[in-house]
Amino acid sequence: MTANELRTKYIEFFKSKNHVEISGKSLIPENDPSVLFTTAGMHPLVPYLMGEPHPAGKRLTDYQKCVRTGDIDEVGDASHLTCFEMLGNWSLGDYFKKESIGFSYEFLTSKEWLGLDPELLSVTVFAGDENAPRDDESASYWMEVGMPKDRIAYLPASDNWWAAGPTGPCGPDTEIFYWVGEGKPGAGSNKATDSANWMEIWNNVFMEYNRIDEKTLVKLPKQNVDTGMGLERTTTILEGKTSVYLTEIFQPIIKGIEALSGYTYGTDEGKDKSVRIITDHIRSAVFILGDPKGVVPSNVGAGYVLRRLIRRAVRHGKKLGIEQAFLPGLAQIVIENFKGPYPELEENKEKVFSELQAEEKKFSDTLRKGEAEFEKLLPNLMKNPQKVIPGRVAFRLYDTFGFPIELTEELAAEQGFTVDREGFKEAEKKHQELSRTQSAGAFKGGLAEQSEITTKYHTATHLLHRALKNVLGDHVAQKGSNITAERMRFDFSHPAPMTKEEIQKVEDIVNEQIKRDLPVTMEIMDLEEAKKSGATALFGEKYESKVKVYTIGDFSKEVCGGPHVEHTGVIGTFKIQKEQSSSAGVRRIRAVIS
Ligand code: ALA
Repeated sequence: MTANELRTKYIEFFKSKNHVEISGKSLIPENDPSVLFTTAGMHPLVPYLMGEPHPAGKRLTDYQKCVRTGDIDEVGDASHLTCFEMLGNWSLGDYFKKESIGFSYEFLTSKEWLGLDPELLSVTVFAGDENAPRDDESASYWMEVGMPKDRIAYLPASDNWWAAGPTGPCGPDTEIFYWVGEGKPGAGSNKATDSANWMEIWNNVFMEYNRIDEKTLVKLPKQNVDTGMGLERTTTILEGKTSVYLTEIFQPIIKGIEALSGYTYGTDEGKDKSVRIITDHIRSAVFILGDPKGVVPSNVGAGYVLRRLIRRAVRHGKKLGIEQAFLPGLAQIVIENFKGPYPELEENKEKVFSELQAEEKKFSDTLRKGEAEFEKLLPNLMKNPQKVIPGRVAFRLYDTFGFPIELTEELAAEQGFTVDREGFKEAEKKHQELSRTQSAGAFKGGLAEQSEITTKYHTATHLLHRALKNVLGDHVAQKGSNITAERMRFDFSHPAPMTKEEIQKVEDIVNEQIKRDLPVTMEIMDLEEAKKSGATALFGEKYESKVKVYTIGDFSKEVCGGPHVEHTGVIGTFKIQKEQSSSAGVRRIRAVIS
């Protein structure tokens, strides 16, 4: 079965169980400063897991593109990916453990659906701790559907408690594994006794808790289910392969790399690794660049991750002996293969090609500069009788010039030198600790930040959007927004800097609407009806067929997931602190409420 067939079957199955298909969202989370990318199917659904009603109802299903770069350095082995698709189904306070387990088992084993051999499945459930009891309930439902007792492992929170972030909705989970060992699993084989031979394919999270802070866990108003099935991993099983890279999902890209390099995959483990890294990274880079919310390579945040992905791909291309610029060509293959489920890739392809081309060139220049820098260091290094390049020097070349350690080693070797790898690692660790401390600040507020203050900011965003249109004209369209408990940032299309008077006018209009204490009301409508009613919808955003429309008195009407305050009077005083350029044709406002 191909990945496309699996995706379709999954959605069809859950539709047959009265779920509504919703569309997956952008890879770049809106209004969530805690993460750089959408890392799970549940991510865009956080407000609904927290209790907001979803316009499409209580049973939902979708497929979602995700990027996780936490283990970027492990990419290259047979299974790690930075970009993957998650198939998901949700119950928002509707069914719970029994039905969820029943659905999963039926979908996996029924001949009508995936028809997997039940003997090759095993599961884990939560062993219990001070936060929540041992999940005998899930275990009993597993046994009810036919899972043998010795295929059920009880594991602690490190394995069987799922949370997308340091705060927000979370809960115990039950995970489903498929046998990847030789022959058939023996009696008593499960994840606890025989970990390496079982591969996780599906995770069913019973989200009935909300983590407020490190010490406080409370029950959510509703018992939700959040599940995620890895599309690539499950396809691997269904196609009887031993690695995701051998499935039809990645083979066209690998064939492309073979054609460029003249190397045949499967003949040299070191080179295979380079092929896998390029394959994974080009796919991630195309998905990130092809997202309507568009991130471009830079030195911060998501842009930096993108830059690393592209540069690592280029470097491994060089390792394979590819001399010419090759990323746009591979990007074309990615787009061809994924534009069906992700039409945005085709729509944004010119941008994808031009950004890849520019970054590939920039990196080649960097490599040249790094080499020149190395030459400069040489006379000094030559004085070192041990012929060892200190780790901190190698790290500086890497950190400042983007010059990879392997290349420093290569150049060093030409002079009969080695590089102090340990010292390099130490310098890198120190640097990572520093950046972790810095980025820890980003987690303040957390994924499910829905405090009173951020809710006020959400509503203020709508007022600002409308006020900007009134003052500057109808060409103003929201390009992005980012809210923390301390401030809001709002990006919008406008060709020129705003004048002082315009800024003042916008600020006054927003404050006037706050003073009028307008009621904020919500209505669920068909998307078309919402647009006809004059509601503002964001360009490039994917919406469901039924949407929530928030109306603020006679002033504003916008399609939005919420949540919002009930009347504007509670917002306080609105102040624009800064108006500046964000990118070509896009301005950015930073504002606070007090
Ligand atoms: N949110 C769960 C996961 O990502 C399903 O594993």
